[in-house]
Amino acid sequence: MADISIRDVRKVYGKDEVIHGVNLAIHNGEFIVILGPSGCGKSTLLRMIAGLEDISGGEIAIAGTVVNDLEPRERGCAMVFQNYALYPHMTVGGNIGYALKVAGVKRAERDAKVRAVARSVGLEEFIDRKPGQLSGGQRQRVAMARAIIREPKVFLFDEPLSNLDAKLRVQMRHEIRRIHNRIGATSVFVTHDQHEGMTLADRMVIMNKGTIDQVGTPEEVYNRPATTYVAGFIGSPAMNFLSGEVRAGESAVALADGSRIALTPAAARAFDGRLVQIGLRPEALALCAPGEGALRARFDFYEEMGSDGLHHLMVEDVPLSVLSAHKQRMPEGQEVGVTVPPEVVHLFDVESGQRLEAGPGAVATIKRMEHAE
Ligand SMILES: Nc1ncnc2c1ncn2[C@@H]1O[C@H](COP(=O)(O)OP(=O)(O)O)[C@@H](O)[C@H]1O
Ligand SMILES: [Mg+2]
Repeated sequence: MADISIRDVRKVYGKDEVIHGVNLAIHNGEFIVILGPSGCGKSTLLRMIAGLEDISGGEIAIAGTVVNDLEPRERGCAMVFQNYALYPHMTVGGNIGYALKVAGVKRAERDAKVRAVARSVGLEEFIDRKPGQLSGGQRQRVAMARAIIREPKVFLFDEPLSNLDAKLRVQMRHEIRRIHNRIGATSVFVTHDQHEGMTLADRMVIMNKGTIDQVGTPEEVYNRPATTYVAGFIGSPAMNFLSGEVRAGESAVALADGSRIALTPAAARAFDGRLVQIGLRPEALALCAPGEGALRARFDFYEEMGSDGLHHLMVEDVPLSVLSAHKQRMPEGQEVGVTVPPEVVHLFDVESGQRLEAGPGAVATIKRMEHAE
């Protein structure tokens, strides 16, 4: 059992604290993705698990053992980096088997293991080549194989696919997930790419400037983002935000332009008078005739997305995008209405950015309402 327990972990560089007391419980066999923009502390957290950075405060335990004072090689982790760090003068087989050689494993046993692992990542026919004679994806597979052969309890990945072109990235992503499913070791994967995170993760950890904003399955994080930061980071195209004030008497959020977005009475009562950010996903909206729908907007410009069109609008001076397979190109400035199907509207507190929810299902559907004039 290789669960990982991270308790109130801090990291200080000089006078700067860059990880501010992080708590996280990773289950045995789980594929965890740590997601966040550059500089938010992902690598630092991963390197503290691996033992490549000291832990300034708190505790990390792997499989029940506190590892704060253990050397990297005593922790049972294998790390796969962005730059593959292969030995250029050694063959693929030599690279894969190097750790076993150092550990004194006999030649015959080593060769058999190298061959088996090379086969498992589709490298068998390249075993005698040097890294310089391989493509980027093949080199990445060598790096994976080199980690797998050590039979680690935990795989740690630090943006391992960032150097690859788009198509290969997707292929390798699938391969990493396949290998994980086959081997079943606990995996912690760091990336700034939300697509990579969404598609790979059992659970995602969304980091924001050295703290964790949310931990959840990709669906949970997409459907119920805990903060405006998470809401804006997860989902593509990005979520729209509008400001308004909750009015219990009207069971609605009042926007500055006089329009009303309906809330359930429960949500409206719970947050009466509150200044809120309303989060609307572009894919949850649709265009309609001017004067109809909950929102009044003007057409700004159109963006072709292949299967869908992204319609950029302005609600007063706030941009709002509508993603729809029903593609409509309109002249700039043309008036248009926006309807929202009966789905959950995301409500956030303006000050704290925290999600507002008045019990299950209480944050209501947006309904067509008459505009208050
Ligand atoms: N060795 C270091 N010395 C000082 N500051 C560092 C060091 N490594 C990282 N940092 C700082 O810590 C913060 C988090 O960095 P990092 O963990 O690399 O972020 P990420 O991997 O999310 O891009 C950044 O502000 C970075 O500048
Ligand atoms: Mg990093």
